[in-house]
Amino acid sequence: MATQEFSCLIISPGGRLVAELSLPGDKSITHRALILSAIHDQAVIINGWLKSLDCQATLRALEILGVKFKSLAADALLVQGVGLYGLQAPNKVIDAGNSGTTMRLLSGILAAQAFDSVIVGDASLSKRPMQRVIEPLQLMGAKINAVNDNYAPLNIIGKQKLKSIDYTLPVASAQVKSALLLADLYAQKTTKITEPQPTRNHTELMLVYFEANKHKPLTLQIPGDISSAAFFIVAASIAPTSDLLIKNIGINPTRTGFIEIMRRMGANIKIDNIKIQNNELSADIRVKASKLRAINIPEELVPNAIDEFPALAIAAACASGTTVIRGARELRYKESDRIQALAAGLNNLDIITETFADGLAITGGKILGGVVDSFGDHRIAMAFAMAGLVAQDQIVVQNTCNIATSFPDFVSIARQAGLQIVSEESCYV
Ligand code: S3P
Repeated sequence: MATQEFSCLIISPGGRLVAELSLPGDKSITHRALILSAIHDQAVIINGWLKSLDCQATLRALEILGVKFKSLAADALLVQGVGLYGLQAPNKVIDAGNSGTTMRLLSGILAAQAFDSVIVGDASLSKRPMQRVIEPLQLMGAKINAVNDNYAPLNIIGKQKLKSIDYTLPVASAQVKSALLLADLYAQKTTKITEPQPTRNHTELMLVYFEANKHKPLTLQIPGDISSAAFFIVAASIAPTSDLLIKNIGINPTRTGFIEIMRRMGANIKIDNIKIQNNELSADIRVKASKLRAINIPEELVPNAIDEFPALAIAAACASGTTVIRGARELRYKESDRIQALAAGLNNLDIITETFADGLAITGGKILGGVVDSFGDHRIAMAFAMAGLVAQDQIVVQNTCNIATSFPDFVSIARQAGLQIVSEESCYV
C-alpha cells in the first residue's frame, strides 16, 4: 500500500445533472484582459475574471512589473494600467507556475522592455516547448536565452529594438500568435502572422477593443469558460435523464469545435440568449442526455477544440463504436502528454484505446471503476471525474491539486451539478 501525498477525487457512480450552473470566467480571456489592462493608460475594471492559479500567476507577474491591482468584489478586479511604456524592472524572477499562457504571452511583452527579466515555471511547464515562441520573437529582434534553446527558465534580455515580421506559424498556437501580437505593440504594428489552421482569436478581438477605446477607463466582462463547461456538457450528455442549463458561456467560434464535435456524436445541445460583450460572444447552453455515437473527428476541428479532448475522450468512451482523433499531436505538449494520459486512464477503466503519434482511437464500452492518474493535469483530472457518473464502481482520480490552475471551485460546482464527488487531501491506494 503506497501513500500518495497529493489530493485525489473520489466519484461514486450514479447521479444525473438537473441543474442551472454559472461557471468561472474564461481562462484565455482573463490572461489577455490582465495583460492588456496592465499596459492600458487608464484604469480597467475586469468583471468575472477567473481567479485560478494560472491567471493569478499572470497577475502576480504584472505586479512584479509594477502594476497595481485592487479587488472590488469576489470576481471584480480594478487594474491601474501603467501604459505601454510604464512597466518597471522586476526585482525578482517571474514565476509562471503551471501556466503556458502566462509564460508565452508575457515573453512577447518582456522581449520589448528596456529591462532584463527571467520567467520560470513548475516541473510540467519546464518540460513544454518554448522554441516556438522564442524563434519568431528573435526574428523580431528579441534576445532570449533558454535551456537547450527550448525550455524554461527564459532569460529575456531587454533594450532590444523590435521590428515587425511576416511569419508563418509551424504549429497552430494561439499562445505564440498572441506573444507576437503583443511584441508588435512595441514594433511597427505591421506583423503578419499566417496560421496553419485558425486558432482562438481573443487577443485580436481584445486588441481591437482597447484600440477603439484608447485613453478611456474601461470595464470588461469575462464570459464563463467553455473549456470548463465542456466537462459538464459531456457529463449531462452521458448521465441518463440529465437536463442541464449553463449560463453565460463564451461561444467565440474559434472555441466551439467541441460543441460541433459533440453534436456530430449525437449530443443534444442548444444555444440560447446570445450576446456580445467587449467583442466576445457568449450564450446559455442547454444540454440533455442523449445516446452518443462514435465519429472520426475532422482534423480541421482540432485546434478549436484542443483543450476539450480530455472531456471528448470520456464522451467517446460512452459512445457506440470507435471514435478516432488524429491531427492532434499538440495534445502531447499540454500540461501532460494528454494522448498517453487519456489512454492510460481509459485502459485502467477497461476502455480499449489505440494511440498514434498524433492522436488516439477510443472504443466505447462499459466503464469499470478504478484508479486513474491525472499526471498532475487539471483537465485530465476533471474529465475522469465525469466518467465516474456512469462507471460500474467508484473512480479515484489521483494527483488533482492542479485543478485549481483553471477551475478552483470544481468540486463544489460538480456536486451542485449532481455528481457524487468528494475531494481528499491524500489518498491511500
Ligand atoms: C491558449 C492556447 C492553447 C490552449 C491553452 C490556452 C491560449 O494553447 O491549449 O490552454 O490562451 O492562447 P496553444 O497556443 O499551445 O495551442
